[in-house]
Amino acid sequence: MSEFEGLVAAVTGGASGIGAAVVTALAERGAHVAALDVQPVSEKDGVLGLRADVTDDASVRQAIETTVDRLGGLDILVNNAGIGAQGTVADNDDDEWLRVLDVNLLGMMRTSRAALPHLRRSRAAAIVNIGSIAATAGLPQRALYSASKGGVVALTRAMAADHLTEGIRVNCVNPGTADTPWVGRLLARAGDPAGERAALEARQPHGRLVSPEEIAHAVVYLASPLAGSTAGTGLAVDGGMQDLRLRPR
Ligand SMILES: NC(=O)c1ccc[n+]([C@@H]2O[C@H](COP(=O)([O-])OP(=O)(O)OC[C@H]3O[C@@H](n4cnc5c(N)ncnc54)[C@H](O)[C@@H]3O)[C@@H](O)[C@H]2O)c1
Repeated sequence: MSEFEGLVAAVTGGASGIGAAVVTALAERGAHVAALDVQPVSEKDGVLGLRADVTDDASVRQAIETTVDRLGGLDILVNNAGIGAQGTVADNDDDEWLRVLDVNLLGMMRTSRAALPHLRRSRAAAIVNIGSIAATAGLPQRALYSASKGGVVALTRAMAADHLTEGIRVNCVNPGTADTPWVGRLLARAGDPAGERAALEARQPHGRLVSPEEIAHAVVYLASPLAGSTAGTGLAVDGGMQDLRLRPR
């Protein structure tokens, strides 16, 4: 029997990319999973698709309550919903700064706030936030996005400190550039998509993009009751981009 049997998970941004891979990985291991997204979610065995916008507090609360009512509780929250932004600190106007921070950072606060009363009742409570290599390394043209993800990493540690003694572990996963529809959209807009993809692959020491399944595997590890002594940590899934310095090929 898997350690996830009988546990309930909610995954924001569960309709696409990394979130969809996390939904599949948790459901395959026996968890009952709610996928919360602004887009329709394809419902598979053991998966409940719920429309929710993490920028809208009422919508988040409703989706968490529906998850608890329909699936019988809440043990695991994966805060994955996020959007991108490009440019230097001078390139995005105030509205864009507020829009991206609202989704990427305040969205995690809203879902966590709504989930906490239910997580406190769980025997195996865990929150996993999705950060980014952009939080831990300086990347060009990503000022706003990096600021939002730096906030996620700091928020993860603060939440871990606040809730550990309540039996709720909080951690984050920091992916490198991953092969998701998001990156597909970025590449499609580039003047030379193949060249841009090759540059992104070469930036990661293992020479390729990270797969959504590899990131989901890290989320599963941190969410698992078997990781009961891991709290406040950031797990890099980036082909070594954060810490390794290989000689050029
Ligand atoms: N793809 C990468 O290279 C990469 C790298 C590091 C971190 N990340 C992070 O991983 C997460 C997922 O990215 P992805 O590449 O799978 O992107 P994606 O665009 O494929 O999926 C993101 C999902 O979030 C949903 N979403 C967006 N705004 C929402 C909102 N307001 N409320 C609810 N759902 C919303 C979208 O509808 C979509 O289904 C993001 O937090 C992103 O910052 C991605």
